[in-house]
Amino acid sequence: MLINRHLIDPMDFKVEELDEIFSLAEKIIKNPKKYSKICDGKILATLFYEPSTRTRFSFESAMMRLGGNVLGFSEPNSSSASKGETLADTIKMVSIYSDVIAMRHPKEGAARVASLYSKVPVINAGDGGHQHPTQTLTDLLTIKNLKGNLKNKTIGLCGDLKFGRTVHSLIKAMSRYEGNEFILISPKELKVPDYIKEQVLEKNNIKFREVEALEDVIEELDILYMTRIQKERFFNEEEYLRLKDSYILNMEKMDKAKNDMIVMHPLPRVNEIDMEVDNDSRASYFKQAEFGMYVRMALICKLLGVEEC
Ligand code: CP
Repeated sequence: MLINRHLIDPMDFKVEELDEIFSLAEKIIKNPKKYSKICDGKILATLFYEPSTRTRFSFESAMMRLGGNVLGFSEPNSSSASKGETLADTIKMVSIYSDVIAMRHPKEGAARVASLYSKVPVINAGDGGHQHPTQTLTDLLTIKNLKGNLKNKTIGLCGDLKFGRTVHSLIKAMSRYEGNEFILISPKELKVPDYIKEQVLEKNNIKFREVEALEDVIEELDILYMTRIQKERFFNEEEYLRLKDSYILNMEKMDKAKNDMIVMHPLPRVNEIDMEVDNDSRASYFKQAEFGMYVRMALICKLLGVEEC
């Protein structure tokens, strides 16, 4: 049962529970009208201490499309956080005013802390460079729909694998499905953190290798997951400027890839995917963002226990 649960880490839900969410998302995609009033009288709070376009708007759109209401902030200076209110006190208040909370915060672990003080489900909408579990739901639903299933895939993760929380969450999630292997493509300064390699990949005997050149491996991939270099997480601007153009996916590189490879990206992109790639049928990142709204609709229904009309 997913009712009243928190979603802080992609591993919080079992594979069977994720299947329930995907199955409901697919039902909603087929017949959105059936679900258009299901959250009547319910309130989603979106507490965004960091900028967002997709995650916040897709959560808000999801709740509105389910017939519910939304309150919250996208700029922490407009809340009492700017007067020094603690996260614990903010969450105690907001969990009185709402039925479910989606929160993005720059500090790793902030969503876990929020869940300790909340009377209602807390959804981690990104905590620093740590995890982004609803992006993972989005990514899995996209792969399931565009590649048929979540098994036996060669997944290339490319770009900022150190600070990119979506990558950390996706490695954890895809490691639970049989036969998946990873090619980790990054500059040496931006490699996947050791704790993920040791505690997820090595511990579970998942095949992976680390390389620096995308063009050396692109032909092997079923999925290419591009990421932006995360400027906001660098301590040193010089280092960011040196690394920011490490990878630019263009049609010359796409010509070497399989005809059925899909290109994913959590977005926003800066320059790591040339706009000419958008016209290629393998470019799946805008479709991915659309799946994100439907999977969040399904997640809200499950956490509130309002699945059936
Ligand atoms: N993918 C993602 O988290 O996008 P936003 O930062 O725009 O929410």
